[in-house]
Amino acid sequence: MTEPRSTDAPARSLSRRDADLRELMDDPACDPALLRRTLERFAIVNRLISGWGSVYRRHVRPLTRTAARADGSLSVLDIGCGGGDVLRRLARLARADGVEVVAVGIDPDERALEVARAASTGEAEYRQAYSSELIGEGRRFDVVISNHVLHHLGDDGLRTVLGDSRALSRGLVLHSDIARSRTAFAAYAAAITPLAPGSFLRTDGLRSIRRSWTPSELTRHLAADPAYAGWRVERPAPFRLLLTSSAEPRGAS
Ligand SMILES: C[S@@+](CC[C@H](N)C(=O)[O-])C[C@H]1O[C@@H](n2cnc3c(N)ncnc32)[C@H](O)[C@@H]1O
Repeated sequence: MTEPRSTDAPARSLSRRDADLRELMDDPACDPALLRRTLERFAIVNRLISGWGSVYRRHVRPLTRTAARADGSLSVLDIGCGGGDVLRRLARLARADGVEVVAVGIDPDERALEVARAASTGEAEYRQAYSSELIGEGRRFDVVISNHVLHHLGDDGLRTVLGDSRALSRGLVLHSDIARSRTAFAAYAAAITPLAPGSFLRTDGLRSIRRSWTPSELTRHLAADPAYAGWRVERPAPFRLLLTSSAEPRGAS
């Protein structure tokens, strides 16, 4: 099966964020087999490029120590969990650090949740939901995360997801994403070749890079609106950005 090809010509400028570019996986009518393989292979791509090992050690592990001294449990919500591999990995890491983990992944796309549930060995619950629905239920989590969701969002979506993630968190919020650059684009185009056949990984990965923020762009965007006060942009690894908020200590609610 051949992957659809289109707007990944390197000559297109990467100097500005291309928020109008649509990813193939965002089409509700996209090929289900290509989508399923894309979601399954995110597990490998995320392991190689997303940098969650160091994000866990720096931001989440300290909370496991606090949790161990309290009731021994840590709750984690993954917004836009897709195939769920990042959540499963964080849950395994936290359990290895000695805490019980309540892990919930939400995604509006039932096709992604089917992949997540098929790969799950019981580490996490996966639900079709938007973040606003969990707020309506009064849910709160010790850690709220997302991976590769920010670049999917327009202005309204970003406002909603950031506001909701903070409202759903008792403490820590971590939104991890690609940091756009020519080097990231060239490196991904070369490295994805063996994994890409029969999936959207090449086209959508390159479109994701075009849609993603640079750390300085995102910092400026957030600084221009008082509703975003308290968010901080970090650069946790090459080609990555991490948007964090740690407004309230654990236990405050
Ligand atoms: C590129 S995938 C990333 C999936 C997964 N987090 C990962 O890193 O592999 C983006 C996911 O975000 C979900 N998504 C898009 N808009 C969303 C929103 N407003 N709220 C929550 N999830 C959203 C999509 O359904 C999709 O599963």
